Amino acid sequence: MNNVNNLKKQKNILNSIKIFDTTLRDGEQAPGVALTTDEKIQIAQKLDNLGVDTIELGFPAVSEGEKNSAKLIRELGLNANLCGLSRVIKNDIDALIDCDLTYMHTFIGTSPLHRDYKLKKSKEEILNMTVEAIEYAKDHGITTEFSAEDATRTEQDYLIDIFKAAEDAGADLINVPDTVGILIPSSAETLIATLKEELKSPISVHFHNDFGLAVANSLMAFEAGAKQAHLTVNGIGERGGNASLEEFIMSLVIAYGIDLDVDTTQLFNLSDFVSRITGIKMPPNKPIVGENAFAHESGIHVHGVLENAATYEPIPPEIVGHSRKIALGKHTGANALKAKLNEYDIEMNEDQFCSVYDQIKTLGDKGKCVTDADLKAIAVTALGQAKKESIKLLGLSVMSGESVSSTATVKLLIEDEEKETSKTGVGPVDAALNAIQYLVKGTTNIELEEYHIEAITGGTDALAEVFVITSDEHGNKATGRATREDVIMASVDAVLNSINKILMIKDS
Ligand code: KIV
Ligand code: ZN
Repeated sequence: MNNVNNLKKQKNILNSIKIFDTTLRDGEQAPGVALTTDEKIQIAQKLDNLGVDTIELGFPAVSEGEKNSAKLIRELGLNANLCGLSRVIKNDIDALIDCDLTYMHTFIGTSPLHRDYKLKKSKEEILNMTVEAIEYAKDHGITTEFSAEDATRTEQDYLIDIFKAAEDAGADLINVPDTVGILIPSSAETLIATLKEELKSPISVHFHNDFGLAVANSLMAFEAGAKQAHLTVNGIGERGGNASLEEFIMSLVIAYGIDLDVDTTQLFNLSDFVSRITGIKMPPNKPIVGENAFAHESGIHVHGVLENAATYEPIPPEIVGHSRKIALGKHTGANALKAKLNEYDIEMNEDQFCSVYDQIKTLGDKGKCVTDADLKAIAVTALGQAKKESIKLLGLSVMSGESVSSTATVKLLIEDEEKETSKTGVGPVDAALNAIQYLVKGTTNIELEEYHIEAITGGTDALAEVFVITSDEHGNKATGRATREDVIMASVDAVLNSINKILMIKDS
């Protein structure tokens, strides 16, 4: 508690804690992520709406595309400071100046590994390059933040020397990167406290998440006097990523009680947007923004939450723009099911309720989740109100072999109209599912979220059980399952089963 009070006091002295977002630079370095200029612009706008202090928008020297994005983001007239990355190299700094950026984050590797294997330069050469680059940037009126890359594996004496030299050359901020995420909270605190004793400039931290400690380490750095943290949305970045923006912000706001000037209600939307644009899906249990961050299934928890949500929630989901979810499965209690049916205005008698309850428990016992669409399909069937299936399979043929694309021809009856198409895929199942997806497009846009197959008997005529989850353009999800001897038929039946459930909730 003392530390918390210290931090609050310190916040008053420093006036503010700075949030430096590097989603567009270090986040984009996550394997497989390449953002278009338009996507960068949209993310920058959202970060600005959230209220981050600084946006690192890229590394202008690496490409014309990076420069172009930097220029266009600058033209948006955002409130946040706009920063570009640069090595301690004149050409890199010129690229930044070309984009009219006035904030530079410059870095060079300082650890023995970086000096000997990557740069093949002596300590002195690296220090001189640093000083020259900072002086050059300062001569051009650029706010300069200096990073000693791999600081946490650099000899402490040399780290202090190079940081002091950077300060003397005019660096405005000193940034401490834990490039391969080797700190633990206590070493983060000690390191920052030591640097704080030695340096005059504000200290920033840039912690990677290789051992899942980046947020905890950043918080400890703040307790030791750091003033700024580098963060990324959803914690995306190289390898295990960076400290997560949403987890760090919410820890400061809720656990430390710091009054940050950010609109936390934007966090879920921002996370979802970045996840969709980068293709990096969040695990359901991702704190703050994961699908299950405010979901409750067990009877005891749901009962508590229905009486008072705070019983099993640290914060109301609305604070981060998320929503509460009562999930159904094998732990579901009668209270939860009643609440869920109420939510959908479904009324039923005791017998019907027991039948729905039993079916949900049976599905849950099989280890399957039960989506809202599943519940509605089960409920309308129990009420005797189930409509006939909207989509029926009329025919299927597949062609597959070595060195040829698999092709499937599928014929469906969709709302009394026959439709047929042929599509290719990486295998016959993929081809058949592509054909279904194409044929139902006029009715609904289906994505296959999950596909699992299991042989439930042995031998070449084994029964295959396929379990799928599909979703539509409105985020409705439904499970589907089918058991057949033919894997392709089982897959097609399972997908149609799930699409029919989604259509059932759309119509109800
Ligand atoms: O992790 C790191 O060391 C970096 C540098 C560019 C500061 O991202
Ligand atoms: Zn980094």
